Amino acid sequence: MDKKVVVVGGASGVGAACVRSLADAGATVVSMDVSEELGQETARAAGQSFLRCDITDREQVFAAFEEAAASMGGIDALVHTAGILLQGPAAELDDQSWERVMEINARGPVYTNQAVLPFLKKSERGSITNFASSAALTAYPNGAAYAASKGAVTAWTRSIAVEWAPFDIRANVVHPSAATPMLEAHRDKLSEEGKIAYDELLKQKVPLGGRFGDPDRDIAPVITFLVSDGARFVTGQNIAVNGGYYI
Ligand SMILES: NC(=O)c1ccc[n+]([C@@H]2O[C@H](COP(=O)([O-])OP(=O)(O)OC[C@H]3O[C@@H](n4cnc5c(N)ncnc54)[C@H](O)[C@@H]3O)[C@@H](O)[C@H]2O)c1
Repeated sequence: MDKKVVVVGGASGVGAACVRSLADAGATVVSMDVSEELGQETARAAGQSFLRCDITDREQVFAAFEEAAASMGGIDALVHTAGILLQGPAAELDDQSWERVMEINARGPVYTNQAVLPFLKKSERGSITNFASSAALTAYPNGAAYAASKGAVTAWTRSIAVEWAPFDIRANVVHPSAATPMLEAHRDKLSEEGKIAYDELLKQKVPLGGRFGDPDRDIAPVITFLVSDGARFVTGQNIAVNGGYYI
């Protein structure tokens, strides 16, 4: 695949798998993440480059995209996976937690999407793939603020898909379920009984195998397809890559 791609959140989990999958498909990738050491390591192992970037900082984001475009000779696609999980009772949510989850999960994609726009306009067929969550599509008790942040990025993506379509830019949003450090950290915090209940719920709720997906085998190939010209007529879609979770 002859594409120049920026993967935001490329240090870990699904983003790291996307860096590997896109590189295997022949794309040139600049990976960005706030986690520098891991980001460097993951990109280097895939033969790609890395830039440290905190997506909560508008200036840093715009500068990083300028640098990525200069190093690759343009940008054809953005895959934005960076995000955080926040859990806790809705009634106890404080301002600081709300602002943190919104600034990373909702405002972060706004910055990266705006920053990539001038480069995608110059590309023949540009694309944006943002990441939300099943939590944006269904009730997520004990995670209402996270669900709201993912609802925001879902609605944003659908709207820019129409607004930027005249520039031949596609925008889709992916709802993944994958065994990644984010979910491992969440499971680790549960009591032994909680872990048993959690695993049992997965068995009941995920028709395909009763488990979370593997980032490399189950999620990243779909993202690589969305970046490719094979997906040239796919835009504004909610694409759940989750083994049928919540259907
Ligand atoms: N894993 C799942 O099952 C699952 C389910 C639903 C949604 N998601 C979403 O998919 C995306 C990827 O999740 P994952 O499981 O791979 O998570 P992960 O925690 O493994 O990776 C997230 C990456 O985002 C980066 N990041 C966090 N804050 C950042 C910031 N301010 N600036 C730059 N980078 C930052 C982290 O350093 C990390 O490398 C996230 O948006 C997540 O909310 C994941």
